[in-house]
Amino acid sequence: MTESANINEPRHRPIRSFVRREGRLTEGQQRALDTLYPRYGIEPAEGLLDLAAAFGRQAPVVLDVGFGDGEALAELAARHPERNYLGIEVYRSGVGRLLRQLDAEGTDNVRVICADAVEVLRRHIAPGSLAGLQLFFPDPWPKKRHHKRRMVQPPWLALVAERLASGGFLHLATDWADYAEHMLEVVSANPDFDNPHAGFAPDRGERPETRFERRGLSKGHGVWDLILTRR
Ligand SMILES: C[S@@+](CC[C@H](N)C(=O)[O-])C[C@H]1O[C@@H](n2cnc3c(N)ncnc32)[C@H](O)[C@@H]1O
Repeated sequence: MTESANINEPRHRPIRSFVRREGRLTEGQQRALDTLYPRYGIEPAEGLLDLAAAFGRQAPVVLDVGFGDGEALAELAARHPERNYLGIEVYRSGVGRLLRQLDAEGTDNVRVICADAVEVLRRHIAPGSLAGLQLFFPDPWPKKRHHKRRMVQPPWLALVAERLASGGFLHLATDWADYAEHMLEVVSANPDFDNPHAGFAPDRGERPETRFERRGLSKGHGVWDLILTRR
């Protein structure tokens, strides 16, 4: 391809926090995507999402970024029927699994987007519209040359601060010691958040134990939570 044919390509591809390398979906997951995504899924069009319309009611919205198989998200949504939970995940088999669980449990306060959460946050979520955002066990990208792929970075946190309502919460958790230190540095440098615990939270707060957490614990990892409030 000549250089001029390439002119509309972005010069630098954005650095993503994920790599799509998905295996085959189970039949059940594929069926769930086909039949249940129309009910629980959102396909954002141009512009900001109308969250009240998407949920069919006005209620505080908590965003779960990268919910994995959705176990913790489904549990929190069941515990908090007064909240709306928006889950965003790129991993289609995880989305399929969560859809099956929501359907089996008759949950109605969860909506799902299968897309890059950073892009959705940037383009489709209105400023000041979130009551909370949870990022549980984001991909740790342990190799130094991959650290730039880590989700928690100053520009990401500035975007999150803008999307949260005043008094909204931000809950981060990781089982990688150096990512935990990095998270603490990044949040401490941002003046838009209060950290009532000064450093890491003394426990996991309302966060249920997640599958990735159990896997980390079985390998001898520690767990660090940061629970902050938007000023
Ligand atoms: C290590 S898993 C943790 C899953 C879940 N939060 C838990 O604690 O069990 C990280 C998840 O984040 C998802 N992810 C990474 N970057 C993402 C992005 N930009 N948008 C949506 N999902 C993302 C991955 O597909 C993966 O499922």
